[in-house]
Amino acid sequence: MNFNIDEYVKNVKEAAEYIKTKIKNKPEIAIVLGSGLHGIADKLENPLKISYSDIPNFPVSTAPGHKGELMFGTISGKDVMLMNGRFHYYEGYTMKEVTFPIRVMQELGVKILIVTNAAGGMNPNFEVGNPCIITDQINFMGDNPLIGPNAEEWGPRFPDMSEAYNKELTEKAISTAKKLGIPVYTGVYLGITGPTFETPAELKMMRNFGADLVGMSTVPEVIVANHGGIKVLGFSAVTDKAVPEELKPVTAEEVIEIANKTGEKIAEIILALLGEL
Ligand code: HPA
Repeated sequence: MNFNIDEYVKNVKEAAEYIKTKIKNKPEIAIVLGSGLHGIADKLENPLKISYSDIPNFPVSTAPGHKGELMFGTISGKDVMLMNGRFHYYEGYTMKEVTFPIRVMQELGVKILIVTNAAGGMNPNFEVGNPCIITDQINFMGDNPLIGPNAEEWGPRFPDMSEAYNKELTEKAISTAKKLGIPVYTGVYLGITGPTFETPAELKMMRNFGADLVGMSTVPEVIVANHGGIKVLGFSAVTDKAVPEELKPVTAEEVIEIANKTGEKIAEIILALLGEL
């Protein structure tokens, strides 16, 4: 194994130091904007944008519907950091690259991570266009970002995952959505590598595993956040029906279009929730 953890830690710290020279306040809350979900960025007050390409050692994103910038500012009076454009395993990035930004967040002192994504709804009760609050996850990517030497300063060798998605934040998000009159589901997210969507046989298997949602992101980021002691809250936009009996061909364009619409509801919930944190 030629992965050098000391060098990786150094690279992350360099990226974080560069960012610290640009920002006024260090954010305690970070939000990862998934496919088609960058509408939240419009709510940011006094935004400061830093392009990924300007940050030392930072990867650069290529996926459709994804930009490549960090944004700093306030939402509902809270200092936040937005990651506008994430890195996917299917693009060819390693798990360490996919989760590099989460380590930068950790180095910046982020305490709460809100992840958003577009996902297929495997639960037959889920209707397309609604948000789902993620209660737990299944790592079905066949890899793990923590494989290799452990950086003790970042977290333990064998991290606990008994509350991968923070219960208190999850409950707060559910009650906030209720107060706003926005219907939300709750469910388990299963992460696949992609880039293929699922066959009907795969969907049957995943449903039997206990998953309600399927998508191509989020799982590695949430693992690293947990390792680093960052509390996680997760939202999926249900963008298509991933139910074997009702399976229709799905395209990335449709997914992004629905995610854009659903993202408005998710943004509304996050906005209200941030005011209460
Ligand atoms: N499967 C996998 N990833 C996805 C899907 C899906 O149905 N929809 C959006 N992302």
